[in-house]
Amino acid sequence: MPCPPKSDDLVFFVNGRKPAPLVRLTGTKYACGRGGCGACTVMVSKRDPLSAKIRHFSITACLVPICSLYGAAVTTVEGVGSINTRLHPVQERIAKSHGTQCGFCTPGMVMSMYTLLRNHPQPSEEQLLEALGGNLCRCTGYRPILASGRTFCVESNGCQQKGTGKCCLDPGGNDSSSLLRESDICTELFAEDEFQPLDPTQELIFPPELLRMAEKPEKQTLIFRGERVTWISPGTLKDLLELKAKHPEAPLISGNTSLGPAMKSQGHFYPILLSPARISELSMVSKTSDGLTIGAGCSLAQVKDILAERVSELPEEKTQTYRALLKHLRSLAGQQIRNMASLGGHIISRHCYSDLNPILAVGNATLNLISEEGTRQIPLNEHFLAGLASVDLKPEEILESVYIPHSQKWEFVSAFRQAQCQQNALADVNAGMRVVLKEGTDTIKDLSIAYGGVGAATVSAQKSCQQLVGRPWNELMLEEACRLLLEEVSLPGWAPGGKVEFKRTLVVSFFFKFYLEVLQELKKLVKFMPDSHHYPEISDQFLSALEDFPITGSQGVQRYQRVDSHQSLQDPVGRPIMHLSGLKHATGEAIFCDDIPMVDRELFMVLVTSTRAHAKIISVDLSEALDLPGVIDVITAEDIPGTNGTEDDKLMAVDEVLCVGHIICAVVAETELQAKSATEKIKITYEDLEPVIITINDAIKHNSFLCPEKKLEQGNVEEAFEKVDQIVEGEVHVGGQEHFYMETQRVLVIPKAEDKELDIYVSTQDPAHVQKTVSSTLNIPINRITCHVKRVGGGFGGKVGRPAVFGAIAAVGAIKTGHPIRLVLDRKDDMLITGGRHPLFGKYKVGFMNNGRIKALDIECFVNGGCMLDDSELVTEFLILKLENAYKIRNLRFRGRACMTNLPSNTAFRGFGFPQGTLITESCITAVAAKCGLLPEKIREKNMYKTVDKTIYKQAFSPETLIRCWNECLDKSSFHSRRMQVEEFNKKNYWKKKGMAIIPMKFSVGFAATSYHQAAALVHIYTDGSVLVTHGGNELGQGIHTKMLQVASRELNIPMSSLHICETSTATVPNTIATAASIGSDVNGRAVQNACQILLKRLEPIIKKNPEGTWEDWIEAAFEQRISLSATGYFRGYKAFMDWEKGEGDPFPYYVYGAACSEVEVDCLTGAHKKIRTDIVMDACCSLNPAIDIGQVEGSFIQGMGLYTTEELKYSPEGVLYSRGPDEYKIPTIADVPEEFNVSLLPSSQTPPTIYSSKGLGESGMFLGSSVFFAITDAVAAARRERDTVEDFTVRSPATPEWVRMACADRFTEMIPRDDPKTFRPWSIPIA
Ligand SMILES: Cc1cc2nc3c(=O)[nH]c(=O)nc-3n(C[C@H](O)[C@H](O)[C@H](O)COP(=O)(O)OP(=O)(O)OC[C@H]3O[C@@H](n4cnc5c(N)ncnc54)[C@H](O)[C@@H]3O)c2cc1C
Ligand code: FES
Ligand code: FES
Repeated sequence: MPCPPKSDDLVFFVNGRKPAPLVRLTGTKYACGRGGCGACTVMVSKRDPLSAKIRHFSITACLVPICSLYGAAVTTVEGVGSINTRLHPVQERIAKSHGTQCGFCTPGMVMSMYTLLRNHPQPSEEQLLEALGGNLCRCTGYRPILASGRTFCVESNGCQQKGTGKCCLDPGGNDSSSLLRESDICTELFAEDEFQPLDPTQELIFPPELLRMAEKPEKQTLIFRGERVTWISPGTLKDLLELKAKHPEAPLISGNTSLGPAMKSQGHFYPILLSPARISELSMVSKTSDGLTIGAGCSLAQVKDILAERVSELPEEKTQTYRALLKHLRSLAGQQIRNMASLGGHIISRHCYSDLNPILAVGNATLNLISEEGTRQIPLNEHFLAGLASVDLKPEEILESVYIPHSQKWEFVSAFRQAQCQQNALADVNAGMRVVLKEGTDTIKDLSIAYGGVGAATVSAQKSCQQLVGRPWNELMLEEACRLLLEEVSLPGWAPGGKVEFKRTLVVSFFFKFYLEVLQELKKLVKFMPDSHHYPEISDQFLSALEDFPITGSQGVQRYQRVDSHQSLQDPVGRPIMHLSGLKHATGEAIFCDDIPMVDRELFMVLVTSTRAHAKIISVDLSEALDLPGVIDVITAEDIPGTNGTEDDKLMAVDEVLCVGHIICAVVAETELQAKSATEKIKITYEDLEPVIITINDAIKHNSFLCPEKKLEQGNVEEAFEKVDQIVEGEVHVGGQEHFYMETQRVLVIPKAEDKELDIYVSTQDPAHVQKTVSSTLNIPINRITCHVKRVGGGFGGKVGRPAVFGAIAAVGAIKTGHPIRLVLDRKDDMLITGGRHPLFGKYKVGFMNNGRIKALDIECFVNGGCMLDDSELVTEFLILKLENAYKIRNLRFRGRACMTNLPSNTAFRGFGFPQGTLITESCITAVAAKCGLLPEKIREKNMYKTVDKTIYKQAFSPETLIRCWNECLDKSSFHSRRMQVEEFNKKNYWKKKGMAIIPMKFSVGFAATSYHQAAALVHIYTDGSVLVTHGGNELGQGIHTKMLQVASRELNIPMSSLHICETSTATVPNTIATAASIGSDVNGRAVQNACQILLKRLEPIIKKNPEGTWEDWIEAAFEQRISLSATGYFRGYKAFMDWEKGEGDPFPYYVYGAACSEVEVDCLTGAHKKIRTDIVMDACCSLNPAIDIGQVEGSFIQGMGLYTTEELKYSPEGVLYSRGPDEYKIPTIADVPEEFNVSLLPSSQTPPTIYSSKGLGESGMFLGSSVFFAITDAVAAARRERDTVEDFTVRSPATPEWVRMACADRFTEMIPRDDPKTFRPWSIPIA
């Protein structure tokens, strides 16, 4: 077939129009590029040729080849609604329900919800959860997003306990310990009745032009030619087969969810791509009496619907395989990927983690292949899955459809999977299992088992199965099966992906579950057959092994103190005001750094980093890279006109690299693609250096530290140890954490023509630091450099220090080339280069009396600081200062050191050492409880501060609020009665255990230095009365700008609508301090207050003269009278100091107290857990904005929960970070939020020295996430007690399914082979 010489017209619509070549729609965000985060979600609408209906489905734009959009209508967040025209109810509700913080995930969330509503205007809760399962949010903790979505649901009833008498909202609901009357407490953060209704008739129609095209589809082959790739889309099956014969090496591009990531990250390249999208034969479904044939082109979402329909039509016995497939289709990826991925692509990709292939294989599915030669069938069996050439597709063949037979009576099929978290995570191990028993007996007639995740492909346990045929389905068979399976499905100790012992255990644990499931099914069967065979009984205690945890949405109540009834309605302080940018986030109109349109002559920069952990740079050959088209320059350290960072913290490596990810140089090119391609052509030769220090242990051995030891001591520890009843010693390991801000690091540097001036637009928490670093790097005065921060898509500490490095390198590029430079890190580089939370290793020795009173505590800890100092010394100091948490222990010794290792430098992260360190303290408490035979909460209560006292560093404080939080939390969570229920549950269930923990918290806010507590603001009043507020804080999503306008509104007594904040800029407020340490709103609020008060003072005579005048009258008069309408406000800061020599000081301005109680259920066989309920009581004192503050508590709690349960960084023994994206690094998803999640802000009882007595809550909630960790360890301890596992387990965070499963040691963990660690090099090593 001759190809036409030029491209065909690629017809598609975006937001109702044919797009111009440059659409410039920036609402859709790009945060991972791998389909794993949902930030780029858009809706695609297509006419389905079979049903002749328009199908709307969400997709992740980052994986969509533009040519695949032929004939489609795309709707982006801009097409849904806008502030200037009409807001869509989804946009309005997500913003007004406080479902946005930084707003970077919001367009994606809006689009997922919008698509759902296009298909189901009144969705069920389950559909809502399903729709949002592929969207990550790092800020909100999801609860408010779900709340906004729930307003559309059929039943939107808020708290599940409502009306039962148990709900705190019910009349008489308990709030006994509160100082306030119930009427002073508010539980609504938004007014649902104010929302505009959803009107489906208002939506964009499917473009008539596309409808015409779809109704009379052209059959000719379409060809779209790009610079390097040709996309061919035939219109008939015949043409497709002809093309496949002609281009056998060309892949069939269906959903691109497998090909796309491989092309992006593994450099796979195909000059010709064949699209089967227009071939209706590939979407055919046919039902027969013995099975179901599904077209290979059907999306996994369609497959799910088809199977669900079949399950509803057929008797249960026939749908075993379909139900097993459906089970996995619920948790496979997110909704967007299921909408895109095709059944054919899934099968042919043969990923080792495939969730469907093991089930299809055991279910005897057949592949219907077709080529020009004709059709043939091959079984989807272990040989096909292993990729054996003899049973594979021929290059010219394609998969047309898949036949899945019905199951029969006496046939049982099940599916199992265990991943790091419940949803949107690839399975560590999955399995499909099928047994056929001889009718009416327990004799195995046929058995097939296939596992995923335990080899390079899906592995079938064929030999074991054969040997078990003929055996009765009983305990003896189970024992034998486990032995055979472990022999056949063998994983070497060094297997890629690691978790080897866990995977081995799952192999047998899954079979055990299957064994029980079949028995259970048999029990149901024989009920109707009185004379049937007798099958082994499952003891009631074992029944719990059968149930999987359901994916459920979170419900809960948020409680806060109502403002005084006398407060003016206009005064916004203390009210749940929506985030200032909320609506802009929801419409995609909020401009982030990389949304700034391309500026004239702009170039793109990409960084080149070291691939060695510790090496000498022998040579850097740039020649090939420089020769590539579009490449302008390569920037190296030699190009730096000023200083290259500091001696210990260089911006770019000079002759030695200290970690994998160390920046060596940067390519500048006309486009991002050109710059990226050029980085691959730079040849760097290294000479490896010794030692290579990766772990804390290595560092201790080599005496490799970044700074001197930090130590605090009180009382006489040694003497106290001699007098105690018991002593326990132990170790705690806490892994690191990736910030995973949704907006990666980015900067745009624009050199100006005059006086070496530079404008820098940067995503940072500390623009002054960027400005200063650029100044010293370029050797130009600070006053020539202006840094602008409009908003930051999440920071969490990760954008305090590092943005200065990127800003400075980009600035060098800008000065050298004379062009504006844009530098945007992609997710994998961001994760590789920037470092994160410090991993920690702690040793403790605790001495106590038999009644649980702790008399002496000695903790020594080490953090893994990486290769440069960064904030490691400060983190160690904060760690030591905060280690005592809420406990008064007379004899204490805390020591801490920051290890220097060959890893990227770790840096500031929400909580700054506290979440890691205090895990040791709380672990001591649990260890003491275990030894005394008492409950941990009793030990906590016994040792908590009770009266006004002094901390270990001799700062006086009153623990009254701490105790109130604790008591209120005990009360609100009905702790004691639920504790008894947990114990009852545990007695009755062997394979599932519940656990509970309540954790108190004393968190010190602020920096330990006076100079860091200063802040300034600049307030201008314009002649029309409008006010522009500028201050030194940066909007990171935490709502600081909203709070600042609340302050200005109260002070000036004008409505918030008259006030505006444009950006944070070093030109308006100089010498600012990083927005961090939970103190930003407080200190900047004081500065704004000061500026407003100065202005008001100036206006006073005018107001006095004309008290009835309006604000505008007064401003006009002030201008006439030459009164300055601009003022700088300043806050000199809290005094804070610490004398480390004496171990004394007043390092913190105030404390935030809190308590959290969590309950979980653990599956001892898989290590999975379900968060049943969390109650948090937090002391905000007089919250400036309860919606924002509750948002901070919830968001940080969920982030903390991630730290302690799922977020696991994996390093190779050579120091290479494997986890560089959302597929390998699991932050919590919407399915991870506790089923019941209640947050109460403790009614105020104190007057801290803060702005309007409102406390900073940015970080403290992080640590409360540990209540989930301790609830899990509580459940694990219960399992171990029952199994008589005597020895203590080492506390290791995160408590991943791997850790939990292995800690719940049982007969299955005992039967797995163990490797001698000395005999192999593991795939990954723990660095803490
Ligand atoms: C973020 C993300 C999360 C994921 N999570 C999971 C998960 O939890 N569990 C899981 O099992 N999988 C998961 N996957 C993998 C996903 O299931 C597969 O990528 C997907 O099913 C592949 O289908 P596709 O249509 O996109 O294939 P494509 O990428 O389009 O193609 C893949 C391969 O199949 C070939 N092919 C496609 N159609 C045909 C045909 N009709 N005949 C012959 N060859 C064909 C192509 O030539 C190509 O080689 C995930 C993927 C992503 C991106
Ligand atoms: S950017 Fe597309 S899914 Fe993350
Ligand atoms: S608001 Fe969701 S990532 Fe920031």
